Amino acid sequence: MPDLAAATLPLSPPALLQDGYGRRVSYLRLSVTDRCDFRCVYCMAEEMRFLPRAEVLTLEEMAAAAEAFVSLGVRKIRLTGGEPLVREGLVSLVERLARLPGLDTLALTTNGSRLQQFALPLKQAGLHSLNISLDSLQPERFHELTRTGHLGDVLAGIAAAKAAGFRRIKLNSVILRDRNDDEIIDLVRFSRREGLDLAFIEEMPLGVIHEHDRALSFVSSSEVLERIRGEFDLLPCPEALASDAGGPTRYYHMPDSTIRIGVISPHSNNFCSSCNRVRLTASGRLLLCLGNEHSVDLREVMRTAPGDRERLQDAIVAAMPLKPERHEFNLEEPPQIIRFMNMTGG
Ligand code: 5AD
Ligand code: SF4
Repeated sequence: MPDLAAATLPLSPPALLQDGYGRRVSYLRLSVTDRCDFRCVYCMAEEMRFLPRAEVLTLEEMAAAAEAFVSLGVRKIRLTGGEPLVREGLVSLVERLARLPGLDTLALTTNGSRLQQFALPLKQAGLHSLNISLDSLQPERFHELTRTGHLGDVLAGIAAAKAAGFRRIKLNSVILRDRNDDEIIDLVRFSRREGLDLAFIEEMPLGVIHEHDRALSFVSSSEVLERIRGEFDLLPCPEALASDAGGPTRYYHMPDSTIRIGVISPHSNNFCSSCNRVRLTASGRLLLCLGNEHSVDLREVMRTAPGDRERLQDAIVAAMPLKPERHEFNLEEPPQIIRFMNMTGG
């Protein structure tokens, strides 16, 4: 006899991951390493101590965690770092995740330094889209901002990514006053020429840095937009055109170009009410909000009961009510969040 209850089940799974404010979690940002070959001034201290290997999740554990999230209704995963491409075996992880039924988008955020080597293998492994950080088009300044990076490598990496044929490539720029705020228009021109989307990100006070005073270096998204408007017509994109609708990026377009200009304003525009994401750090801490410390240790769950998918799923579901309603960033006070961005991958 046919199972009628099963036959009448809705086609889409129920909202398994829902937080205490009715927000559905469908997006996981997975940090695959806290290490990086750059030391960007807004992200890291010059001398960094990285996690001992044993504290970092194995690729197997990362895949198991990703599979548990996707089985609970997550539809998008972004691999982040540190710099994900310094993690050995990353391409094989991409290959495994790309095959997960139910996962619509597999994306990666990179500093671009190793894309010459990895763009094509990543595309062939099934990666859909790339975000590439680019804060300056001037070689010396690029080196100052990243402390160790070379602009030429990243530009060659961007070219390799375009040649590999990704569904979507977006450039990300963090704008700091008196360091690169004079390059806003140059970055827009570059993106128009290359046919790539570009997002400007406000600097967030994550981790203690001594390089610059974050209150003085802050450039708001509205100032960035105003400066662009001095050169180009900017029209807000209808929500339907924003492929990551509901995300923190507000998009604009220009009548004479196919690219989109985005702004991400964690300070001036609070987007928490539509937040659909959680983060898993390289050490297996499930962080419910970038601007708060609420977290659950999934490494502990996986190492106590290796291979126990149900236990992992239960731990993830049980973490959802911990997701805070909103974040507050205050540049006037010492950072409330001591971890650096490389711990969580932005
Ligand atoms: N504030 C804003 N953006 C940051 N990034 C790293 N640290 C910070 C910070 N403190 C950005 C990088 C990259 C993305 C992953 O996060 O430039 O584009
Ligand atoms: Fe590395 Fe990205 Fe941090 Fe720069 S911002 S140091 S590229 S993790």
